Amino acid sequence: MPDIQILPSILAADLGRLAEGCQRAEAAGADQIHVDVMDGVFVPNISFGPGVVKMSAAAVSIPQNVHLMVQRPQDHIKAFAAAGSDTIQIHIEAKCDVKETLAAIRALGKRPAITLNPETPAEAIFECLENRWVDEVMVMSVHPGFGGQSYIANVEEKIAAIRRTADWVDIAIDGGIDDKTVRGAAAAGCNLFVAGSYLYKQADMAAAIADLRQQATESFCANV
Ligand code: DX5
Ligand code: ZN
Repeated sequence: MPDIQILPSILAADLGRLAEGCQRAEAAGADQIHVDVMDGVFVPNISFGPGVVKMSAAAVSIPQNVHLMVQRPQDHIKAFAAAGSDTIQIHIEAKCDVKETLAAIRALGKRPAITLNPETPAEAIFECLENRWVDEVMVMSVHPGFGGQSYIANVEEKIAAIRRTADWVDIAIDGGIDDKTVRGAAAAGCNLFVAGSYLYKQADMAAAIADLRQQATESFCANV
């Protein structure tokens, strides 16, 4: 069974105390920090740049999972690698040569990952799996750009199709994950769970992370 991991998204942290937000997640038992990078072109919103990854990497010792919601990721991967990213995710819908960009991420010594929007079919990323260009796939369960949106449950069929194709790959889910939605995603085959607004609104983040981890572990299905 792949590792079940919980990744708080610091987009939902108090931006005036971002380093503390990272440390709070680490102290609560988070496995990785999820950093949402938005360029205002690929998605309507603008968020963080490499400086925030650098800050987060200096603030905690858990890995940095960096989600590039940018139109031209190939122009930025060096900067995000140098800032301390561990996993660099690009979108299959971005304007880049996906094979080349993923290879460049690996050549920089980082884990390459591919992300798909809710309306993009699983087949769009099968080439990445067949050729092992990626170590991780992330399925968006909201339209990217903003935290705090509702979970789109019909992406679970797509997760199951990806899991049937590759039992070795880490499958992450991003958007609307909470104590109600985590089970469905895990049952479909996800093993990495990004959660922003749900975790940062908790008085006891450690208990919430432990609960998500337990529910996911109970529900995880490797072979659906
Ligand atoms: C959405 C981002 C998510 C977001 C998740 O564009 O990619 O990582 O922060 O936030 P919640 O958990 O609030 O849906
Ligand atoms: Zn994200």
